[in-house]
Amino acid sequence: MFKVLIFGDVVGKTGRQAVAKILPKLKKQLHPHLIIANVENLAHGTGVTPKTLTTLEEAGVQVFTGGDHIFAKPDAAKIFELENSPLIRPANMSVPMGRGEKMLTVAKKRVLVINLLGRVFLGDKLNEKGIEIANPFKTVDEILKKYQDQKPQVVIVDFHTEATSEQVAMGYHLDGRASVLFGTHTHIPTADAQILKKGLGCITDVGMTGAKDTVLGVDKNIILKRFLEEDKESFDWPELDEAVVNALYVEINDRTNKATKIKLIQKTIKI
Ligand SMILES: [Fe+2]
Ligand SMILES: [Fe+2]
Repeated sequence: MFKVLIFGDVVGKTGRQAVAKILPKLKKQLHPHLIIANVENLAHGTGVTPKTLTTLEEAGVQVFTGGDHIFAKPDAAKIFELENSPLIRPANMSVPMGRGEKMLTVAKKRVLVINLLGRVFLGDKLNEKGIEIANPFKTVDEILKKYQDQKPQVVIVDFHTEATSEQVAMGYHLDGRASVLFGTHTHIPTADAQILKKGLGCITDVGMTGAKDTVLGVDKNIILKRFLEEDKESFDWPELDEAVVNALYVEINDRTNKATKIKLIQKTIKI
């Protein structure tokens, strides 16, 4: 049995500390072969830097995925330029840097991890920045075709989306062709972890790991002020001593490569 542990958006320092604190326990309990985390919010809430990524690597995370904020810190380029970089970004974003998929061998298994970005409610903002988002459904087909000859046994997809409809549709698009589809971006876990008929383990959103008593990781007072007074105070990501952890655990059958168990892990921990 191949076991995967996945953290959704890990937000800021509190999120990094929470992953580092909980991973030894989860490793002992679950013995995952592969640990993945979405790091678009890793460096003080937006983007990722070499230093912040190192803290998660040291904790045991092996592959990192991104989203709409992944290029927020210019230093991210240093990670994308690494040979055999552990970090991927949405494959359907029109950016010259980095790759949208990563093939690796873990516990003698050929694993293909793919990162995609949804277009519903996300396209316009990126278009303003001159970034186009290609059709994620067609992009994933192209990637699977490209890797056909390498015969990946386990395919895992991080689909970074705002709309649940787009996510659910992707589940039916990939069922029978991938082992795991997980959603990121909203920072809120959904209660729909399930295995589809042809063996795809999926969830609409894993949810974030980061400071508790915040609005999606951001200082709640700032967000309330923005809603109440339409004040445009800029965001801040507080470093607190209590964190929420949301992670997805999936077991995959060695012979069929189908998901046999999927479970959302939700905890509140002291940092
Ligand atoms: Fe995020
Ligand atoms: Fe995002």
